[in-house]
Amino acid sequence: MRKPIIAANWKLNKGPSDTEDFIKSFESRMSDLPKGVDIVIAPPFVSLPKATELLAQSKVRVSAQNMSEQDHGAYTGEVSAFMLKEIFVNYVILGHSERRSIYGETDAIINAKILKAHDVELKPIFCIGETLQEREDGKLEEVLRTQITEGLKNVSEKQMLDTVIAYEPVWAIGTGVTASPQQAQDAHEFCRSVITDLYGVSVSEKVRIQYGGSVKPDNASELLGQKDIDGALVGGASLEAASFAELIRNGVVD
Ligand code: 13P
Repeated sequence: MRKPIIAANWKLNKGPSDTEDFIKSFESRMSDLPKGVDIVIAPPFVSLPKATELLAQSKVRVSAQNMSEQDHGAYTGEVSAFMLKEIFVNYVILGHSERRSIYGETDAIINAKILKAHDVELKPIFCIGETLQEREDGKLEEVLRTQITEGLKNVSEKQMLDTVIAYEPVWAIGTGVTASPQQAQDAHEFCRSVITDLYGVSVSEKVRIQYGGSVKPDNASELLGQKDIDGALVGGASLEAASFAELIRNGVVD
């Protein structure tokens, strides 16, 4: 049985003071939440120290939204895996479609970042997903297989068990259009079959695959109820503590 993992990707929202407000409000709701779920928040870089400090005694874990594949040197504007470790960050979102499409991140760059994260024992939340055009052209499986295979090159079996996959169809991100539970389940089942091809069934049965793309409190239960959907990566609906808490309550049954 895989433990669900629900993560809040705040994208370019919430500096340190908004982060503090959210955490205080969210923590006051924690006693009402199901226990059998890993909860992660991913604030922007500047808010990470505040988040890890405030959540030091909490079960809520903290994720970065990106990091460099480099350790140090002349890379203006970058943040390294070691720096994230130093401030007690636990996870890092890598390969988000916004990083791929706006900032030109390739499968090779994402692969280098995933390997670097594992080097310092940061857990990657590795995002994959097709565009609407790719889906309409019948390329869904080809795109997912390539993203998974290239992104996970040289990732060991043990590291794979510490990797979370987030399937986020690009056409469902921030659009209010959610994949139907069946569309999402089919894609997740396919992703798991690719992990089986790469690592065998005993690993693939343990790897958690989150769904992302317009997950809301009112569709969380149906989506997370699917056999191969092990949680959610949430954008818009994670910005308010009440809505994020409601989504977790609806999505997870203890
Ligand atoms: P929305 O939940 O706002 O669609 O964003 C999804 C996402 O990109 C999470 O990483």
